[in-house]
Parts: sequence; structure tokens; C-alpha cells
Amino acid sequence: MDILTLGIESSCDETSVAIVKNGREILSNIIDTQIPIHEKYGGVVPEIASRNHIEAISRVTKKALKEANIEFGDIDAVCPTYGPGLVGALLVGLSYGKALSYAINKPLVGVNHIHGHIAANYITHKDLKPPFLCLLISGGNTQIVHVKDYTSFELIGKTRDDAIGEAFDKIARVVGLGYPGGPKVDALARRGLPNIELPKTHFENSLDFSFSGIKTAVINVNHKNPDIKKEDLCASFENAVTEVLIENVKKALKQTGCTKLAIAGGVSANSYIRTEVLKLESDSLKVYMPDMKLCTDNAAMIASAGYFKFVNKEINELDLNAIPNLKL
Ligand code: KG4
Repeated sequence: MDILTLGIESSCDETSVAIVKNGREILSNIIDTQIPIHEKYGGVVPEIASRNHIEAISRVTKKALKEANIEFGDIDAVCPTYGPGLVGALLVGLSYGKALSYAINKPLVGVNHIHGHIAANYITHKDLKPPFLCLLISGGNTQIVHVKDYTSFELIGKTRDDAIGEAFDKIARVVGLGYPGGPKVDALARRGLPNIELPKTHFENSLDFSFSGIKTAVINVNHKNPDIKKEDLCASFENAVTEVLIENVKKALKQTGCTKLAIAGGVSANSYIRTEVLKLESDSLKVYMPDMKLCTDNAAMIASAGYFKFVNKEINELDLNAIPNLKL
């Protein structure tokens, strides 16, 4: 019998509700983005995000049901994100999900946002099964995850300071591209050359990352050379961070013996990173990437991760709380 999960995502600046069938097939995925609202502040303002989630959540839910052509009674589990993220923003989606679960008498399955990003790959690639290695690169996280099973994960590498998406956004702001910076740096870098030397941080005997050094270096280079070609600066930054990502992924593949590699998170939409990761594909390694629209925050990936928890009987009580710094 088919299982329908309703995913709710409100951890940052997207209010999204989705209906997913059997964890892999999207029936609807409504994303109400607040980017234009936060753009003028140069980043997400938490209180404004919470208020806008409250305003949007009912409307977005109704739209998701209508587009999927189902009613509340058809849902098998309600799956809101409960962390990590902005606490006020998380609480809106989680509280709505808890109320909905109670009202329609269907199980509540709280979803870790990071598991959601990884699950985006299950929607794009119907054949993908654990175990595999996942490079998770987003606005809030940079991790190398050994996905041992659908609900079993081991963190084997992480950033020691900034997330890679934060670095993209900061660099965009410094060179005057605005928010959100990642896609703008990506577009500008395509017209530039990676001809500026920037620091690449590696750690001995570790799969960890650090992006604060390169971020500061880009700021300094830009400050000291105001006429520098911004295209070249963006291309050089992308080139340097990608080299570090690839190097650590290669080490992680060797360490784990994984024969499948997935990428996930908002920064996995970056065209240069996608090209370079794809080059790793070989007879002994298959590479998986989510569709572009599933890389950044959306509720379909949350509904997918929720499905795998639900079938594994990982159900939550209604006292589930939001955890802003929830770990993998
Ligand atoms: O996954 P996401 O939507 O939110 C988190 O869960 O953190 O990721 C948002 C991040 C932002 O930092 C944004 O600038 C970055 O993903 N991003 C990109 C691209 N598209 C989005 N970074 C680089 N290149 C892109 N094409």
C-alpha cells in the first residue's frame, strides 16, 4: 500500500509543504520563499522570518494538498523539520505539524533538516540505496556523512568554523552582489579566471574543513585591490574551495570504501562544484546529485526523510521541541 507523508520545512527563510509518495515521488512541493523580504537587509532576519512563516504556513499547506489532489485524511504521517535552524522559524512549522498531527490523528515524525538534504537524492535517484558517502554543503552545514542506512548516519568530517554557504554569501556581499550570494557568485565566476592565489586549508589526519581563512583572504584581496576583476575573484574562490572539498571526499571514499557518492544542500547547486564532483565518477564510483530545485530548502526532501523514519517506526510524541543546533 502507498504511504503518503506530508513534509513541513520552516528552518530558515523558506516556508514549504510537500506531499511525497513512498519517500520517492513528489505529489506536490510548494515553496514560499522569503528571499525578496530579507534581500534588503543583506541576510535573513530571524524575527521577520518567523512572522512570515506564521503568515504563510496554512496557505502553503492548503496549496500542497490541492496540488497533490488529496485530503488531510489521506496522509499517513506529518513530518515537520525540528532542527537545526532558527528557533523561532522552526517552532512555526513544528507547532503547526504537531497541531495537524493531533487534529487528524496521524503520527508525528520530526525530521532533522540535514537528513532531509541527504534524502533529496532519493527523490531524484529512485535506485539510490544506502550505504553511500554524502558531501553535505549548505548555508548552515558543511559535512562529510557516511550514510549507513536510511536512518543511520555517521559524521566523518565537518567544518571547524564557517559553513561553505556562509562563505559564498559573505564573498557575494563583499564584492557587491547582494543576498543570497551563492547563485550570484556562481554566475559571475563563469565569466572569470581562477588566477588569484588563495589559501586552502587542510588538516592532518582529519576530514574536517575550514573556510574562515579563505573568506578573510578574499575580503583582504578585494579591499587592497578595489579594481580587481570580481569575476576572477569569484572563480578563484570557487576553485580553491572546490579543490579542498574534492580532496577530502577522495580521502573519505578511501577511508569508508564507499562505491557511491552523493552531494546535497544548497551549495550542491553550484555549477563548478557539480562539474568537478562528476569528474570523480568511474567504474568503481557512481555519483548522485539532487535535481537543482531539490538542492535548496524544500519540504519534499523533509517528507522523504520522514517516510524512512516512519517505516522504521521512529515516531515522536507531541512534546517534541525545536532544537536549533540539532546534530546529525
Ligand atoms: O540548503 P540551503 O537552502 O539552506 C540551508 O539548509 O543551509 O542552502 C542555502 C545556501 C546559501 O548559502 C546559498 O548562497 C547557497 O546555498 N547556494 C549556492 C548556490 N545556490 C545556493 N552556493 C553556491 N552556488 C550556488 N549555485
